[in-house]
Amino acid sequence: MRTYNTPPIPASEITPKALFLARRKFMQTLGSGALGALMPAALWAGEKLADVKKSAYTVPEELTPYKAVTGYNNFYEFGTGKEDPAANAGSLKTRPWTVAVEGEVHKPAVFDIDQILKMASLEERIYRMRCVEAWSMVVPWVGFSLAELIKRVEPTGNAKFVEFISLHDPEQMPGQRSSVLNWPYKEGLRMDEAMHPLTLLTVGLYGEVLPNQNGAPVRIVVPWKYGYKSAKSIVKIRFLETQPVSSWTEANPSEYGFYSNVNPEADNFRWSQAKERRIGDFFKRPTLLFNGYADEVAPLYAGMDLKKYY
Ligand code: MTE
Repeated sequence: MRTYNTPPIPASEITPKALFLARRKFMQTLGSGALGALMPAALWAGEKLADVKKSAYTVPEELTPYKAVTGYNNFYEFGTGKEDPAANAGSLKTRPWTVAVEGEVHKPAVFDIDQILKMASLEERIYRMRCVEAWSMVVPWVGFSLAELIKRVEPTGNAKFVEFISLHDPEQMPGQRSSVLNWPYKEGLRMDEAMHPLTLLTVGLYGEVLPNQNGAPVRIVVPWKYGYKSAKSIVKIRFLETQPVSSWTEANPSEYGFYSNVNPEADNFRWSQAKERRIGDFFKRPTLLFNGYADEVAPLYAGMDLKKYY
């Protein structure tokens, strides 16, 4: 017969769910009110982020209104409709939150979101964003180059690719109860793409903590690629020797290639990629190679056949 050294937890000490939820709500109220000043860092969606510097990596284009950036989204964990994420993402609990960094690195680590927020100075970067569905936006993101985090974990010589893995929790993410994609959401980049200064580890937009529907508390933004490469609400970053397979490639390999660079001439999609509609505009505009970031990123693909490596 087994004996136990520690007594079982008395029933009176187990927090009933209703009480736990009430406590959480109270903490959330604290975080957003005057008492929030006592809390360690910006916590909840909508809160202003402190000490955000302007960045040189910014395009001088008219911003897409806040309402569209936060109300017209793709985040299949909360439904497949454009308005579903804003309606449903309130169930995502963004604190506590950790990001595990593992694989081909000398210093694997689990970073708390508060550590991430202090890892490098925050910058506002106005980026053009292009969705494969042929709409586009201009978004003032807040974050810092992913390279800052990558340097800390010291990738080994075998690290050739980086994989980003989003949260998998059907309790918080009701869309995961349907198998529209293979969960968790996975995306990847080649090492040099991940190290490129434009690749942004993103914690905010419009000067505020990321709203849940935009991928709180931390996501990737890769402005020269179609939007689906920019994984939201990530919990894991893995460094790999071989190319990872993303969720969209698993779902439809002939349309969703690994590279997914914005390319007006690549015709592998259901939607023509030659033009796009900027949200709010009436007329379409021509789509630019690498979403207009060719000066910065074309050298990464020198000599590659962009139609083969779509
Ligand atoms: N990340 C996760 N985890 N789940 C998703 O469904 N959708 C992608 C990308 N990241 C998605 C995701 C797609 S298709 C796009 S266009 C962008 O998020 C949209 O980002 P936004 O809603 O902040 O504009």
